[in-house]
Amino acid sequence: MKILVTGGAGYIASHTNLELLNAGYEVVAIDNLSNSCMESVQRVEKLTGKKIQFYEGDILDKEYLLRIFAIEKIDAVIHFAGLKAVGESCAIPLKYFNNNVSGTITLLEAMKESNVQNLVFSSSATVYGDPVSVPVTEDFPLSVANPYGRTKLMIEEMLNDLYQSDSTWNIAVLRYFNPIGAHESGEIGEDPNGIPNNLVPFVAKVAAGVLDTINVFGDDYDTPDGTGIRDYIHVVDLALGHIKAIEKLVTNPGLVTYNLGTGVGYSVLDIIHNYEKACNKKLPYKVTARRPGDIATSYADSSKALRELGWRAERSIDKMCEDSYRWQSRNPNGYLCK
Ligand code: NAD
Ligand code: UFG
Repeated sequence: MKILVTGGAGYIASHTNLELLNAGYEVVAIDNLSNSCMESVQRVEKLTGKKIQFYEGDILDKEYLLRIFAIEKIDAVIHFAGLKAVGESCAIPLKYFNNNVSGTITLLEAMKESNVQNLVFSSSATVYGDPVSVPVTEDFPLSVANPYGRTKLMIEEMLNDLYQSDSTWNIAVLRYFNPIGAHESGEIGEDPNGIPNNLVPFVAKVAAGVLDTINVFGDDYDTPDGTGIRDYIHVVDLALGHIKAIEKLVTNPGLVTYNLGTGVGYSVLDIIHNYEKACNKKLPYKVTARRPGDIATSYADSSKALRELGWRAERSIDKMCEDSYRWQSRNPNGYLCK
C-alpha cells in the first residue's frame, strides 16, 4: 500500500514514516517545510534503508496535489500538515484558519477528484476543552478555547458532514493527547522553532544546556502537587497508532474517532523529576503564573482504540524522557536547517 503523508517532514510524521516503512508500506510525503527540515526525511531513509518520495509543496496548492495523485497511486492519506502553536493562533488566527481549514478542504477536494477516499486525520485532545471529568472518552462534549483548537474542531465537523454526504469515505480521526519523546536511535525528534511552547521540548533544552530555567506555569491547580496534569504519550506509540488506523480503514469502517493516549496523567513536576533521572542532573525550575487558557487535568480513556484497533501505548514515562534526552543531547540545536 502507498500512503501519502502530508506534513511529512514534521515531528509526528517522521516517526510515523519510519514505522510505515518498517511495516512494508510505501511512503510519499508532501511538506512545505514551514516548520521542518528535509533532514528529517533523509534520516528516516537512512534509518530504514528505504526511500520516501518527497514533494516540497503546499497542501493549499490543489494543482500540485492533483499532480501527486496522478503520478503516485495513493491508497490512503495521513494528514498531519498544519500549524500548531496555540499562542500564535491567537495572534494570527486567519493564517491558522487558512492553512489548517482551507488546506484540509483543498486536500479533500483533490482526494475526491483523484478517487482516494481513505483518510487519517491528526486531531487533538484540545477539542475536549476543559473536560468535566477524567479520563476523557470520545463521546465527551467538545469545545475549544483558542483558534488552533477551533481549526481542529471545524475540520472534525467538516469531516462528519462530508461523510454524511458520501459514505464511500473512510476516515479515522485520531485525537492525540501529549506526544513527547523521540525515536530511540536519537536521530529523529521534535525540533521546534525558537523557544519551545510545550513543556517537554523546553525541559529538554534546559537539560541540554541550551536554556537556563524551566518555568512551571502555576502550582495552585486542584491537583495533588498543584501543577497541571497531562497524558504524555511516546511519539513512537503514537506513530504505531497510525499504522493500526490505516489497517482499520482497509475494513471500510466509515468515520471512526479514537483517543490516543496512555490513560495515565503526570504533573509538570513529575515530568521534571522523571527527566532529571533520564539526564542524571538537577534541572532548575521556578514557579510562575498560570498560562492563560491552561486547564488543570486531562488524560485519556483509550480503551476504544484497544478494542477496535488492537492498539495501546506501551512505552513508559521513563522511556519517553530517556529517548527525548538522547535526541536533544545529540542534536542540541535540532536539525540545523533553520
Ligand atoms: P509539526 O509542525 O512538526 O508537523 C507539521 C508539518 O506540517 C510541518 O512539517 C510543517 O512544515 C507542515 N505544514 C504545515 N502547513 C503546511 C502546508 N500548508 N502544506 C504543507 N505542509 C505544511 O507538528 P507535529 O507535532 O508533528 O503535528 C502534526 C499534526 O498533529 C498537526 O496537525 C498537529 O496539529 C497535530 N497535533 C499535534 C500535537 C502535538 O502536541 N505535537 C498534539 C495534537 C495534535
Ligand atoms: N507547562 C509549563 N511550562 C512550560 C510549558 C508548559 O509548566 O514551559 C505546563 C502547562 O501549563 C501544562 C503542561 O505543562 O500544564 C503541558 O503543557 P504543554 O504546552 O506541553 O501541552 P498542552 O497540554 O498545553 O497542549 C498540547 C499542545 C496542544 C494540544 C494538547 C493536546 O500544545 O496543541 O497538547 O494534544 F492540543
